[in-house]
Amino acid sequence: MIGHGEYNRHSAPQMATIDHVMPWLDDALDAMPVDDALPAVTLADFGCSEGRNSIDVMKHAAATLRARTDRPIQTIHSDLPTNDYAALLAGLRPNGHSVFGDDAVFSSIVGGSMYDRLLPPRSLHLAMTFNAIAFFSRRPLDRLPGHIVGNGPSALGSGTGWVTGEEHAALAAQSASDLESFLRARASELIPGGRLLMQVFGTGLGHATCNGFTDALNDALLEMVDEKLIDRDHYEIYYHPTYFRTLDELTAPVGDAQSPCATLFSLERSETYEIPVSFVETFKQTGDARRFAREFTAFFRVFSESPLRLCLAGYDNVDSLIDDAYARAERLIRDDPRRHDYHFIALAALLTRRDDT
Ligand SMILES: C[S@@+](CC[C@H](N)C(=O)[O-])C[C@H]1O[C@@H](n2cnc3c(N)ncnc32)[C@H](O)[C@@H]1O
Repeated sequence: MIGHGEYNRHSAPQMATIDHVMPWLDDALDAMPVDDALPAVTLADFGCSEGRNSIDVMKHAAATLRARTDRPIQTIHSDLPTNDYAALLAGLRPNGHSVFGDDAVFSSIVGGSMYDRLLPPRSLHLAMTFNAIAFFSRRPLDRLPGHIVGNGPSALGSGTGWVTGEEHAALAAQSASDLESFLRARASELIPGGRLLMQVFGTGLGHATCNGFTDALNDALLEMVDEKLIDRDHYEIYYHPTYFRTLDELTAPVGDAQSPCATLFSLERSETYEIPVSFVETFKQTGDARRFAREFTAFFRVFSESPLRLCLAGYDNVDSLIDDAYARAERLIRDDPRRHDYHFIALAALLTRRDDT
């Protein structure tokens, strides 16, 4: 993420995907054990980014939990050590008081990869992750020569992109291995009976959440290669470090008795769903392609710029190259909005930590 409050300003669609699973969160909070000897009922959000959405979720969770218990509550907000935590730190204690309006809700920030164990064994009652578990822990391929995302171009794309079956398999395997690491880490941290709510963008219902914007950015970068503004090598090395799973891939580690994490978790429920996105809905009503392209580009720039910037870091004029790439992507969307159609597809799964392992 590029930081400086940009994610907070451009993440309303992500909050809408979270709102959809708030009733699942309520069910988890109702059903999980809360009467134990731990010092606080502890809730953690992994991949919290700049925190606006994370704080909103925790406010909802803490208020729901208060109806069940007057024990102290701890909220833990976790992301990579490189995340910009400034807005989150300020947001947790505005005017020196807890944002939760409750003296017995305590908050902390933990920097680290969610694919590692980050909290003491059996210290956590509820773990959550939203729009984050698609990010790779490492780049499994040195380069992706035909497109900027391993899921490949959309069916509507310009026809310029491709990903081989072998490349796709390598990226899918990394995603599966990361998911298993995440589940094993959370299994160690959760108390028996504790809940794990996983929600993430993905593939399903005939679309993938990467369609539309990755085609535009891919074609923009190819134009820049053609014009010798960036070299082909940099284009091939850059790819967006995420994999857009299907629901089957998300639930595979716990899907049946033979699954690798089946002894650790039981699967309570899972779903693929689509969330209407405001800039898409506005475009449908107004046909204003200029506005659609501008708002769509602002939305995807926030989460795609950092890895692109890293890849182009060797160029003296990296700032203008980045601006140029997004200006071109915006123009390509504006000129042909239907080919850059956007659908926010989300996946969710609610799991319970088993108590026998
Ligand atoms: C799209 S944001 C989601 C933010 C928030 N959860 C929401 O739904 O609005 C994805 C976040 O995942 C974080 N992330 C990526 N890889 C991570 C990792 N290995 N461990 C923890 N967080 C990670 C990124 O830093 C980023 O803040």
